Amino acid sequence: MSECAKGVFIHKLIYPFTHSPIHSKIGDFMKNIVLTGFMGTGKTEAGRILSQRLGYALVDADTEIEKEQGMAITEIFKQYGEPKFREIESDVIRRLSEMENTVISTGGGAVLRQENMDNLRKKSVIVCLTASPETILKRTSNNNDRPLLQVEDPLQKIKELLEFRKPYYEKADIMIDTEGKSPLQVAEEIIEKTGIKKD
Ligand code: S3P
Repeated sequence: MSECAKGVFIHKLIYPFTHSPIHSKIGDFMKNIVLTGFMGTGKTEAGRILSQRLGYALVDADTEIEKEQGMAITEIFKQYGEPKFREIESDVIRRLSEMENTVISTGGGAVLRQENMDNLRKKSVIVCLTASPETILKRTSNNNDRPLLQVEDPLQKIKELLEFRKPYYEKADIMIDTEGKSPLQVAEEIIEKTGIKKD
């Protein structure tokens, strides 16, 4: 078994039983931290602080998609539909998965494709941020850049999507409830739980 595979194997085996910090080193490089979680769980803000604290690079999958396509996510949904968006998202995630010493923030639906999770897991600890449907509504209702929530009853839609996606989000290595916490507190909890050392 390669050193890399061994690292992943060891952490999957030990972590759930001991709750010790996840082994953050594979071979010679530090793992990336991947942030997953529903829209409005604070991935972007926590990711920004986390990258500053760790001296890691920061990439956001949605921003990369927009740069690559030269249009906003809402426009991609409108022109090509969700299935095409998911294909583009998987291509971008495949590329971002190869990075090192990086905080990778993903869109809320990235967890839905096993291929994305497999790619991300190769060099990363996967963290999932959670929040209640009401908090998510509050955090997302100040703009209309989430095409999936542009419906008559967004709270109902959030509840339905959360219910469907729950088993996918739970595939993460670490779950962090963001309810009532500041992005700084969330970032510090991620550092503590991953066991990743600040330089
Ligand atoms: C989506 C979440 C969005 C974006 C797209 C689809 C989803 O990202 O990728 O609108 O399916 O949950 P954020 O989670 O960053 O808002």
